[in-house]
Amino acid sequence: MKPYLGIDVGGTFIKVGLVSDTGTLLHHEKVPTEAQRGGAAILDNIVEGAKRCVAHAQMDWDEIAGAGVGVPGLLDAASGIVRQAPNLPDWDNLPVRDRLTEKLGIPVQVENDANAAAFGEWWVGAGQGVDHLIGLTLGTGVGGGLILNGKIYHGAIGAAAELGHMTIDPYHPYVKEGIRGSLEALASGLAIVKFATEGLKSEDADILLQMVKENDNEITPYIVYKAAQAGDSLSAHIYHEVGTFLGIGIANLIHIFNPQMVVIAGGIAAAYDLFAPPMMKQITERTFETSRQCVQIAKAQLGEFAGLIGAAASIKFKD
Ligand code: BGC
Repeated sequence: MKPYLGIDVGGTFIKVGLVSDTGTLLHHEKVPTEAQRGGAAILDNIVEGAKRCVAHAQMDWDEIAGAGVGVPGLLDAASGIVRQAPNLPDWDNLPVRDRLTEKLGIPVQVENDANAAAFGEWWVGAGQGVDHLIGLTLGTGVGGGLILNGKIYHGAIGAAAELGHMTIDPYHPYVKEGIRGSLEALASGLAIVKFATEGLKSEDADILLQMVKENDNEITPYIVYKAAQAGDSLSAHIYHEVGTFLGIGIANLIHIFNPQMVVIAGGIAAAYDLFAPPMMKQITERTFETSRQCVQIAKAQLGEFAGLIGAAASIKFKD
């Protein structure tokens, strides 16, 4: 069986991989997104990554079954038009599927990046054999994916599962995409950096300050994680809050969907050991035992490749 290209378009990097028909990642390439250069440049970078992958595998394009592309935004999966991409300027209303079909010359399927990550975990990751799975992808933004009865749930216009934009705390000072106290405003990579930047101005956080200095003064969620591990109290507090907000969100989702599994993916999932205890506390306090007993909360097994492998799955299992 021919392999697929799986493409995961992130705010900073685009990951392109060759994925076998059974979900094995055969090879991958990482190219910069260069979002600041505009929508056309992002498409060119995708094509560059895809070409490198195919060349590395010494394959011809007609040996590739198709490409699945995970995009960080709201899109119409049927037409392949990206409607709104909050963290990717200049991709609103772009016919990504048609543009890439033209450039690559193979069938292309476009899917939301977090739907793709959830689907990847369902296919060959933590959620194998599970019928009802919710995926949360914690990265620059917070994405969501609903796999219901073994299928991605798209909703009326393809904008379902925008779980990062659900309100967690309507009184919180942080606002993202015009939504006060949304999960993305409170538990995303951007939020962690914002909490840390503000905290450093007023609080005693010597360990974090030192680590940031050693990192060319750049604050990243990973630096905040390392500082928390080294005993920095501001950083530990930030991840405690992230866990609390996530737990509240997940508890709401458990009430609505009665899932068998909730999978946490994305770069921030690397800090699972720090945020999981407060997250689990909220889930325990805010859900009914009956639904809690049948749900497993898990860290993604496919790590940073969940989105890429799931994007390949989105074209393989296309209706
Ligand atoms: C977007 C989602 C996306 C998520 C993760 C959010 O801001 O609205 O569509 O899945 O970021 O990239």
